[in-house]
Amino acid sequence: MKILKVAVIGTGFIGKQHIEAIRRIPGTEVVAVVDSNEEMAKRTSEQFFIPKYYKDCKELLADIDVDVIHNCTPSAMHYPISKEAVENGKHVYCEKPFTLTCTESEELVTLAKEYKVAAGVNFNYRQNAMVQEMNQRVENGSIGNLLTVYGEYIQDWMLYDTDYDWRLDPKLGGESRAIADIGSHCFDTIQFVCGKKIVSVYANLTTVHPVRKKMEKADGTFSASTGKVLEEMSIHSEDFAYIMVKFEDGMQGLFHVSQVAAGKKNAFKINVCGAGSSLEWNQERPDKLWIGHRDSGNEELYVGAQYMTGEAKRYATLPNGHPVGWADAMRNGIENFYESIQKDSYLENQQNYVTFEDAHYIMKIVEACLDSNKSQSWVDVL
Ligand SMILES: NC(=O)c1ccc[n+]([C@@H]2O[C@H](COP(=O)([O-])OP(=O)(O)OC[C@H]3O[C@@H](n4cnc5c(N)ncnc54)[C@H](O)[C@@H]3O)[C@@H](O)[C@H]2O)c1
Repeated sequence: MKILKVAVIGTGFIGKQHIEAIRRIPGTEVVAVVDSNEEMAKRTSEQFFIPKYYKDCKELLADIDVDVIHNCTPSAMHYPISKEAVENGKHVYCEKPFTLTCTESEELVTLAKEYKVAAGVNFNYRQNAMVQEMNQRVENGSIGNLLTVYGEYIQDWMLYDTDYDWRLDPKLGGESRAIADIGSHCFDTIQFVCGKKIVSVYANLTTVHPVRKKMEKADGTFSASTGKVLEEMSIHSEDFAYIMVKFEDGMQGLFHVSQVAAGKKNAFKINVCGAGSSLEWNQERPDKLWIGHRDSGNEELYVGAQYMTGEAKRYATLPNGHPVGWADAMRNGIENFYESIQKDSYLENQQNYVTFEDAHYIMKIVEACLDSNKSQSWVDVL
């Protein structure tokens, strides 16, 4: 096995999670970190014993040889940094939302094919053991034909008008916020579970705080504000949204996405109703799957390879009674991505991680939601 040399760009909240996940995968070595905040890059390299740190991606590419780049920067930097990495022949694992626009995401899909590099996006929730189990049960028909799907991804970290983050600045976070940031996870996870695409949307978006106070922040996403108001900002992106969707076979579904729901932290839940039974998974109880029946008692399945189905068994990476969760799913996705590099299979159409192409489709759904909200009508995902 070749040792893959990896650099992580962006060392805030998610960058550090990538470093930890990568280090749990055999045959990998994190050789450098990059952060435009040089102090942060230095601190992370020292804390994690990573040999090199840089303040931009160009410096890194000019100085050392790496195989893989993890792009964990704010969303606006996903396009330029991923483009630069791909054009330098590096495999890229990029954070979501993939880009700010479909024009950017389409170009990255084309470039990754042209440069023949592995190209993945960290839609991590489909990599959970119980989400894999849902997919298996839908696919093998054990819950009957799918009738409807429902999903919610609700949080409270934007509840107050003093809550501020780079995601609120359209130049850094894009035109859509709640949908691009967390709704995109709903779309990817449900499409994966059902094995079919969303082709049309009707979205209603609401901005609760049209003006927010930008506060000083100590460190990265989800760190507490330090109290001093820097300026007042006009906000145009959505705090919450309701989205109706239609799938390619006509099936319908509904999503509720919010960042202003008091008490809800990372409350992502998906529910699929079949003609025989229903399945529900809640990411805050990630090792359990609820199975609902009409004529017999409902069940709760605990993660454990011996009780699971087909490919999903592989995702129960700990013995029964040892819950697997968020960090394990992150690791699973990155491991699948690296495996495709090690086996040289990353140019094949079907991958067990989200490819640039898959993520480009999610961008199209996000843009269709924005268009639908403006026109207050159904909009096809083209
Ligand atoms: N998959 C998930 O579940 C998940 C969870 C959280 C965040 N994310 C995504 O990860 C990305 C980063 O989010 P975060 O919460 O870690 O943000 P963050 O603010 O905590 O960290 C971002 C880091 O990037 C650095 N940075 C900014 N511009 C840079 C540049 N040009 N070059 C190098 N470094 C740069 C910042 O200094 C900061 O340290 C976002 O796109 C977000 O949507 C994904």
